[in-house]
Amino acid sequence: MIERKSEREIEQMHEAGKLVARIHKEIAKIIKPGITTLEIDSFVENYLLKNGAKPAQKGYQGYEFATCASINDEICHGFPRNEPLKNGDVVTIDFVADLNGALADSAWTHPVGEISEEAKKLCEVTKEALYQSIKEALDGNRIGDIGAAIEEIVAPYNYGIVRDFAGHGIGPTIHEEPNIPHFGSRGKGKRLKEGMVITIEPMINLGFWPSKMDNNGWTARTVDGSLSVQYEHTIAITKNGPIILTEQDDV
Ligand code: MF3
Ligand code: CO
Repeated sequence: MIERKSEREIEQMHEAGKLVARIHKEIAKIIKPGITTLEIDSFVENYLLKNGAKPAQKGYQGYEFATCASINDEICHGFPRNEPLKNGDVVTIDFVADLNGALADSAWTHPVGEISEEAKKLCEVTKEALYQSIKEALDGNRIGDIGAAIEEIVAPYNYGIVRDFAGHGIGPTIHEEPNIPHFGSRGKGKRLKEGMVITIEPMINLGFWPSKMDNNGWTARTVDGSLSVQYEHTIAITKNGPIILTEQDDV
């Protein structure tokens, strides 16, 4: 069953999303060589709590942190840890705010100090792929239209589009139907409908797409050791087009 949200529910999720967006902007300011991802994790948790929200990832399916912090070749679900970040690292911080039961989910790759030109390009193209695919989040379109838009942007660069993790519906719980793959064919897949709220969250690798799982049972990393970056927004599909609930330019 794909849940559809009322205008009021979408407004409440938008409030949660604005908080998430503000926090990502704050992370961009404090992230530098020497800070640890555990420090960023407490910063995010405290910011959420001070604003009347809860870290929805903490306790979710046994996950123990407010954030996922995935460094360099880690694709997603990296554990925050007590190890200083180094100049040139790229770190994806991913978290979900729960504001009075309304959730919003966004991941953002942050550069640490000065990063390589190829890392910058990878970030730029991945962000572009996310924003182009968001334009497909229209009532009446198909889920395949979203993945196709991502593939079209990424193809010229020969980057790997991670296939083992997908975007998802989001509502009272973090992961709901439908599944939103980051590859696909136009005109294929289920129809998108007004009132659906989904995440789009392409994870793109500098090298090949396959991932392997760490022994902790959570963290995925690239098989070839190449860099992986990710940008994720929560998006509401409305009769007036997509609304990016976690847009940083709006806050
Ligand atoms: N925010 C993640 C996503 O984009 C969900 C992480 S699940 C957790 O799907 F358990 F790791 F928190
Ligand atoms: Co997320």
